[in-house]
Amino acid sequence: MQNEELRTAQAEIEAGRARYFDLYDLAPVGYCTLSEKGVIVEANLTAATLLGTNRSALIKQPISRFILKEDQDIYYLHRKQLFEVGGPQECELRLVKPDGTHFWAHLTVIAAQAEDGATVCRVVLSDITERRRAEEELRHLRNYLSNIIDSMPSVLVGVDAEAKITLWNKTAEKNTGVVGAHAQGYLLSHIFPRLAPEMKKITESIRSREIIHHRKRTCVSERGPRYEDVTIYPLTGERVEGAVIRIDDVTEQVRLEEMMVQAEKMLSIGGFAAGMAHEINNPLAGIMQTANVMADRLTNENMPANLKAAREAGVSMAAIRNFMEARGIPRMLKTIRKSGLRAAEIVSNMLGFARKSEAQVSFHDLSDLIDKTLDLAATDYDIIKQYDFKSIEIRREFEDGLPPVSCEGAKIQQVLLNIFRNGAEAMQTAGTGKPIFIVRTEFDKERKMVCMEIEDNGPGMDEAICKRVFEPFYTTKPVGEGTGLGLSVSYFIITENYGGKIAVESQPGKGTKFVIRLPLKSTNDELSTVNADLLPKNEAAANGTLPSKNRGDNP
Ligand SMILES: Nc1ncnc2c1ncn2[C@@H]1O[C@H](COP(=O)(O)OP(=O)(O)OP(=O)(O)O)[C@@H](O)[C@H]1O
Ligand SMILES: [Mg+2]
Repeated sequence: MQNEELRTAQAEIEAGRARYFDLYDLAPVGYCTLSEKGVIVEANLTAATLLGTNRSALIKQPISRFILKEDQDIYYLHRKQLFEVGGPQECELRLVKPDGTHFWAHLTVIAAQAEDGATVCRVVLSDITERRRAEEELRHLRNYLSNIIDSMPSVLVGVDAEAKITLWNKTAEKNTGVVGAHAQGYLLSHIFPRLAPEMKKITESIRSREIIHHRKRTCVSERGPRYEDVTIYPLTGERVEGAVIRIDDVTEQVRLEEMMVQAEKMLSIGGFAAGMAHEINNPLAGIMQTANVMADRLTNENMPANLKAAREAGVSMAAIRNFMEARGIPRMLKTIRKSGLRAAEIVSNMLGFARKSEAQVSFHDLSDLIDKTLDLAATDYDIIKQYDFKSIEIRREFEDGLPPVSCEGAKIQQVLLNIFRNGAEAMQTAGTGKPIFIVRTEFDKERKMVCMEIEDNGPGMDEAICKRVFEPFYTTKPVGEGTGLGLSVSYFIITENYGGKIAVESQPGKGTKFVIRLPLKSTNDELSTVNADLLPKNEAAANGTLPSKNRGDNP
């Protein structure tokens, strides 16, 4: 019986040992016991396998030997904390195997008391390399995505179903001055008040799961009025609700489109006006010449044909003169001639809208041309009569060593004179206190264009006027004072004759600036062949002079 009990007890011990071996040694995590100084006193088989060695090689080794050099501090801090705090402590660090390879491990450590009363640490360690790798991959992916999102030139903002911000890229930060950390979680309309009017659309897009565009939305920023495209993309994944809002600044694009439309319009108006002028030129010449001949026949008392006709009609030339003067005929004839000349001047300007090829082109220094024009303006009788040009201060900001430009000096002077005349007149009419013209020249190396700027400190113009100043016959002056041709003639000279650019920048009360850019080499030759159909057929008409076939009708 005693033997029987002994056998049973032994069998139980065996079973216990087997269970212990199973539970302790083959546990899916590594266990080890460390002395207070950190020396391994006991370890299970899993710990030995994890550390790439056998159990006997572990015993009596300091655990620090198996910790990667760079992570030793983590371990020491962790130990310190363990003895200070008392409760279980966790940390993650890299453990090294004898073959030099290392792996990420998670350590849970508790302080305990051994049977002999000494303080020991019981450590549970597990391999977390896979988890770490997945985390690293996730971090990398997140970085990569946020890099992409941040390097987008568009403002990108993510919102949840309640329109609270979930994503805020760098462009959004730049645009609003609010950093991402301060935007996350807040209502979009609070952080980005500019988008408040879009809130309904955002909710609608999230609900309907349809993309909503709002193109060329106008908004006002510190840089003045701007245009932007707003697109709302609803999130369509499962169990996600929200939207991404993309905002693109399209101000430049809209301006460019407007400029192109304007250039097209000017081109067609120019062609139309030149054609019309050409048609008017001949009948006008007829009227003018006939009026001249009529005046001659009615008033010239020395012309034998006149004397003969009077004699045959039984009247004297003196009687005819008296009659005419009594009826105001000579004054009327003068009026016809004066009005005819004014019409001829307009026609001649309009003929200038067509591209020409017979220009006398040579090389000119544009700074010189500006100086010459300013001299001309100061001595031009017409100008002095109406405006005191000399009282305007002229500030020159000329670039040295400007390359010469191939152009027709007189034409460029005509353009400059138109601009100076307009400016002087605007400043005079507005009663500008200290009128000033700032003239600048500059060479744009990149585009190979010489740039001239003429700025005044006069009354300026609003946007609606600015848009129309280059249109033929557009004037704000009273009827009879301005024809509204000055700037349109200038426009066609610069753009059509020389392939250059002319633009105006102005705001009410802030003066006006005209900017002219001319290419070094005139594109005149190519242009004239392209658009030969715009040219008046009659060479004389092209020069703006009246045809001579009707002239000197003097029998
Ligand atoms: N420097 C300026 N400051 C303010 N307004 C200007 C200036 N230059 C031009 N303008 C405006 O542009 C309009 C058109 O000018 P443009 O030279 O084409 O015609 P105009 O001067 O009215 O007539 P014209 O030159 O045929 O005698 C002017 O009527 C004026 O309203
Ligand atoms: Mg003018």
